[in-house]
Amino acid sequence: MEFETSEPPTSHPMETDEPHPPPLQDPPRIHRLDESVVNRIAAGEVIQRPVSAVKELVENSLDAGSTSIHVSVKDEGLKYIQVSDDGYGIRYEDLPILCERHTTSKLSAFEDLQSIKSMGFRGEALASMTYVAHVTVTTITSGQLHGYRVSYRDGVMEHEPRACAAVKGTQIVTVEWRRCS
Ligand SMILES: Nc1ncnc2c1ncn2[C@@H]1O[C@H](COP(=O)(O)OP(=O)(O)OP(=O)(O)O)[C@@H](O)[C@H]1O
Ligand SMILES: [Mg+2]
Repeated sequence: MEFETSEPPTSHPMETDEPHPPPLQDPPRIHRLDESVVNRIAAGEVIQRPVSAVKELVENSLDAGSTSIHVSVKDEGLKYIQVSDDGYGIRYEDLPILCERHTTSKLSAFEDLQSIKSMGFRGEALASMTYVAHVTVTTITSGQLHGYRVSYRDGVMEHEPRACAAVKGTQIVTVEWRRCS
C-alpha cells in the first residue's frame, strides 16, 4: 500500500514569525433562564410597543362580537390605554387564568387552527401585556346584575375579582408601561 506524502515542512510551525492566535477563552456556562425573564422576552415579541397592545385589545373586542369599541390613549399609550367594548364579556370563573400565558377560549386542539375564524388564538396577548404594564379588566356577562374588576401583573391576579357596576362588555386599561425589548 502506498501513501502520498507531502513535502516536509521547511521549519517547525512553532518557529515561524507568524503571530500566535490568542488563547481560547473558557466557554461560558449554559444555564436555564428564570421563568420571569423568559416571560418578559416572550412579551416583547407580542407587544413591541404600546400601539401593539391597542391592536391586540381591539382584536379581542372584535372576537368578542362587539359592535362598538372605544379606544382612549394618553402619551402614545405609554401613560394609559383603555379599550372598552360591548361584547359578550368574560366569565367570572375564567378571570383567575385570563392573563396566564397560553390561555384562550379560541383554540383547543391543534387541528382547530385549520378552521379558526377569530383574530387571536395563541392566548398570549393579555399575558404579554401584564409583563410590560399594569392591566385592569372590568367585565360583565349577559344576565348578570353586576360586573367584576380585577388587576393583573406578570400573568397573575393581584387580588380576588371585586364586584362593581359595569356596562355591557369589557373594559381593559393598561398603565405603568415598562420597557419590554
Ligand atoms: N374584550 C374581550 N371580551 C371578551 N373576552 C375577551 C376579551 N379580551 C380577551 N378575552 C378572552 O381572554 C382570552 C385571552 O385573550 P388573549 O388576547 O390573551 O388571547 P387570544 O385572543 O385567545 O389569543 P392571542 O394571544 O392570539 O390574541 C381570549 O381567548 C378571550 O376568551
Ligand atoms: Mg387576543
